[in-house]
Amino acid sequence: MNGRGPPRGGPGRRVRKAEEKAPRSPPAPARGYVRHAFPHTWRSPYGVLTENSVPGTKVYGERLFMHEGKELRTWNPRRSKLGAIAILGSNALKFEGNETILYLGAASGTTVSHLSDIVAGGSVVAVEKSIRSFRDLLNVARMRRNIHPVLSDARETDTLVPIIPGGADMVYQDVAQRDQAQIFLDACDRFLKPGGLGVLMVKARSITVSRDTKEVFDEVEGQLRDSGLKVWERKNLEPFEADHVAMVVNRP
Ligand SMILES: C[S@@+](CC[C@H](N)C(=O)[O-])C[C@H]1O[C@@H](n2cnc3c(N)ncnc32)[C@H](O)[C@@H]1O
Repeated sequence: MNGRGPPRGGPGRRVRKAEEKAPRSPPAPARGYVRHAFPHTWRSPYGVLTENSVPGTKVYGERLFMHEGKELRTWNPRRSKLGAIAILGSNALKFEGNETILYLGAASGTTVSHLSDIVAGGSVVAVEKSIRSFRDLLNVARMRRNIHPVLSDARETDTLVPIIPGGADMVYQDVAQRDQAQIFLDACDRFLKPGGLGVLMVKARSITVSRDTKEVFDEVEGQLRDSGLKVWERKNLEPFEADHVAMVVNRP
């Protein structure tokens, strides 16, 4: 990526204005775009992109490109830890495209918006406790029919029971709290369906600043195993995020 946009005749046409929804002529020959392992997701010379489920709209200033008649949104790995995983690759994290995802720590909806593209046939229940972030999240959810925003502390699992009565195929958490592992375990215990996947973004510095990060990650991994979850992967997010790992678990 050189930050100057695609070269002429390059792989796809850049959408310069949000209102430009579709090309007037067929898009340029598809060179350099390959499908990603995640549904509705592509790799390209411009990074990983998801198919925009609301063409013509942006969520956080991402760039829009046309490819094979679809509008694609760039996914910034420095703004989204899942975006970092999408670039780095994962052996354990998989999507079918129709999952119900419980997302704890939705913030303004950056990652949630890409997940909503990926699970276009499913839904994302997005929980956020900060009113300020929740306002932005509401604006994202207004445009996207498969995002269900919930203003709540992720620890208050009773609030969520009526919203996901059938449970979740995936629990995704990114809350940067000291008790982040316990919040995740409680949510998985209550909502994750057997066979479902859990993704815990562990921020070591939110748990303690006085201990070695590896020791903190080992301890969290031990907690997850002791609770009966199977830890499939422990993914370092560098160079995009320091002192973070993603734990990908499965509920047997
Ligand atoms: C690192 S940011 C999340 C970024 C977001 N996951 C993304 O990729 O777009 C952490 C968010 O978790 C929220 N949060 C922290 N503790 C929480 C809790 N107990 N319940 C719900 N949200 C919480 C914070 O308000 C903040 O918006």
